Amino acid sequence: MNMKDAFSFQDRVILITGASRGIGRAMAEGFRDAGAIVYGTGTREDSIAWMQDNGVNGRLLDVASHDQAAPLIKEIVERHGRLHCLINNAGISSTTPASHYKEEEMQQMLETNFKGAMRLCQAYYKAQRRHGGVIINVSSVMGIVATVLASVYCGTKGALIQLTKALAVEWAGAGFRVNALCPGFIETDMTSHIQSREGLMGRMIDTIPLKRIGRPEDLVGPAMLLASDASAYMTGQCIVVDGGMTAM
Ligand SMILES: NC(=O)c1ccc[n+]([C@@H]2O[C@H](COP(=O)([O-])OP(=O)(O)OC[C@H]3O[C@@H](n4cnc5c(N)ncnc54)[C@H](OP(=O)(O)O)[C@@H]3O)[C@@H](O)[C@H]2O)c1
Repeated sequence: MNMKDAFSFQDRVILITGASRGIGRAMAEGFRDAGAIVYGTGTREDSIAWMQDNGVNGRLLDVASHDQAAPLIKEIVERHGRLHCLINNAGISSTTPASHYKEEEMQQMLETNFKGAMRLCQAYYKAQRRHGGVIINVSSVMGIVATVLASVYCGTKGALIQLTKALAVEWAGAGFRVNALCPGFIETDMTSHIQSREGLMGRMIDTIPLKRIGRPEDLVGPAMLLASDASAYMTGQCIVVDGGMTAM
C-alpha cells in the first residue's frame, strides 16, 4: 500500500453528526482541509449557517428523531455515488445524580447517544451495502471507566462501544469497518461547567499524564487514521485519546 494514497481524503465523502461545535467541528475542518467533501449535521439554524459559511455541507438533523437519518444518507449517496465514512459524533451529557433521573431525560440521552447512532449506522449500511464503508462512533472514556454524576451518560457510551464491536463483527463480511474513538476530557461546550471551576480543573489535570486537557483538534488525527485506508485491517476497536488519563 502506498502510504501517501492510504492517507488521502481527496474527494472522499464524509458525514459527521454534530459538526457545528467542539470535536465534530474540528473533525469537519480537518477533513475539509484534507480535501474531503464533508457533510455535517446540527439541530440549530445557526449551526447550519456556520457550516455553510465554512465549506461544510450543513444539514439539519436531530439524531434523536426516528425518521431523519435515512433520507439524509440517501441524498448524499444519490448525489456522490458513495458515502465513504460516517462519523457518529453528536452527543449530549448531563450531571443529574443517578437517583434523580427522570424518564424523559433518560430517554433523551438514550435516543441521542445510542439509538441515534444506531439509526445512522442502519441507514448507512442499507445505502452502502454494495460498496461497504467505514463507521466511526464517538464514545468516551466514560464508556470504559466511570465518574460521579454521569450514570446514564456512562451507560450510553459503554453501550456504544459494544454496539461498535457487534456491528464490526456482523457487517465485516459486507465490507464495513466499524471502530470507536474514546476521547478523555476535551475543552468544548460540553465540559464548560468544569472548565469554569479552577480548583476542579487543577485536580482534573493532575489525573492526566500529559498535564493538559484535550483540545478538539486532538481527535482529528485519530479520526483520520480510522477513516483512512491506512487502518484497513482495524475493525471493532476503540482508540482512547485521553492524554494517558485511563493509563494511570
Ligand atoms: N468534550 C468532552 O470532554 C468529551 C469527552 C468524551 C466524549 N465526548 C463525546 O464527543 C462528542 C462531541 O462532544 P463535544 O464535546 O464536541 O460536544 P459539544 O461541544 O456539546 O457539541 C455537540 C455537537 O452535537 C450536536 N448535537 C447535539 N445534539 C444533537 C442531536 N440531537 N442531533 C444532532 N446533533 C446534535 C450539536 O449541534 P447543535 O448545537 O446544532 O445541536 C453540536 O454540534 C459527543 O458524543 C460527546 O459525548 C466528549
